[in-house]
Amino acid sequence: TTPLRLGIAGLGTVGLGVVGIVRKQADLLARRTGRDIRITAVSARDATKDRGVNLGGYAWEADPVDLAQRDDVDIFIEVMGGIDGAAKDATEAALRAGKDVVTANKAMLAIHGQALAEQAEAAGRCIKFEAAVAGGIPVIKALSEGLAANEITRVMGVINGTCNYILTRMESAGLPYEAIFREAADLGYLETDPMLDVGGIDAGHKLALLAAIAFGTRPDFDGIELEGIDRIEIEDIRQAADMGYRIKLLGVAQRTGRGLEQRMQPCLVPISSPLGQLEGGTNMIVIEGDAVEQIVLRGPGAGAGPTASAVMGDVCDLARGFRMPTFGQPAASLENAPAARAVLP
Ligand code: NAP
Ligand code: HSE
Repeated sequence: TTPLRLGIAGLGTVGLGVVGIVRKQADLLARRTGRDIRITAVSARDATKDRGVNLGGYAWEADPVDLAQRDDVDIFIEVMGGIDGAAKDATEAALRAGKDVVTANKAMLAIHGQALAEQAEAAGRCIKFEAAVAGGIPVIKALSEGLAANEITRVMGVINGTCNYILTRMESAGLPYEAIFREAADLGYLETDPMLDVGGIDAGHKLALLAAIAFGTRPDFDGIELEGIDRIEIEDIRQAADMGYRIKLLGVAQRTGRGLEQRMQPCLVPISSPLGQLEGGTNMIVIEGDAVEQIVLRGPGAGAGPTASAVMGDVCDLARGFRMPTFGQPAASLENAPAARAVLP
């Protein structure tokens, strides 16, 4: 069989996780897909950085746009991050060059996903993004494939592990937000811009993508009623506990009589509920559909192994020739999100 050749842009947590799986599981990947999946070229900012792995067997491209267009790359894997700049430029270049794209970049897709989906479809290519939402949990697959016959009525969940860690630790340690924020920073949990986490923005990006898949709409990040956890006080957590509740940064997307409602806000959930029991950096997503009723998905929302697992699940789909539109249905058929946006009280 012809090999399937990967070009990886980004050699940080996720990129090196992908390199690790391709190397460790070469035989398993070949058995499962019938293809010899190999990395041909890589890119990152700093060519001199010691990344703890020997990258000598791969071509090095200083510019990810050049990597995206190489003749010996079949799938372009974008794991750099950022809404614009290198990630978007290289993704567009890959599609122009006739490559499929796998990305973990929720920020880029929440803002530019519709335009990129249209470009991919016009080029007969596809963009897959399982890793962008809830790390290792295959929720995009669940919504777009396993639950494809359901009218989805609601998707909700905890989809930022860092916020869940901070809220859980505030309660268990009895310490104020500022102290646990510093603890999370020391542990390296926070994004470079911490407001992406504690401001609810990262979780909002993920909710916009989940809602688009679940309800057949365009990703509408601006339509989310968004509030982070940075104003939660220890007293709020104590009072909630006294009443039998925990505070969680909860994302909810549901169709209402007024259109699609999307909220990402700190919410009270009963301590005894699955969401109330969710600790640390774990993610949980609850999906309700007319036929399936309710399913709950739980697992690691971040980290090298879980996120690379999701990236490689997408690569395996492509290796098997399984392609579908980015948001589960052709981009042209997606409802116009601004028109569907709810007027929230
Ligand atoms: P990271 O550790 O900061 O790594 C980013 C990599 O991209 C680095 O290797 C960096 O190069 C490279 N890079 C950045 N800008 C570049 C540019 N202009 N040209 C070439 N290379 C560039 O980030 P990460 O945690 O792996 O995250 C990558 C993506 O996955 C992001 O979109 C993130 O939101 C998403 N994601 C991450 C996780 C997670 O658990 N980390 C989970 C889900 C999704 P240098 O190393 O040379 O600086
Ligand atoms: N900052 C994110 C989180 C990383 O804490 O969930 C994974 O997307």
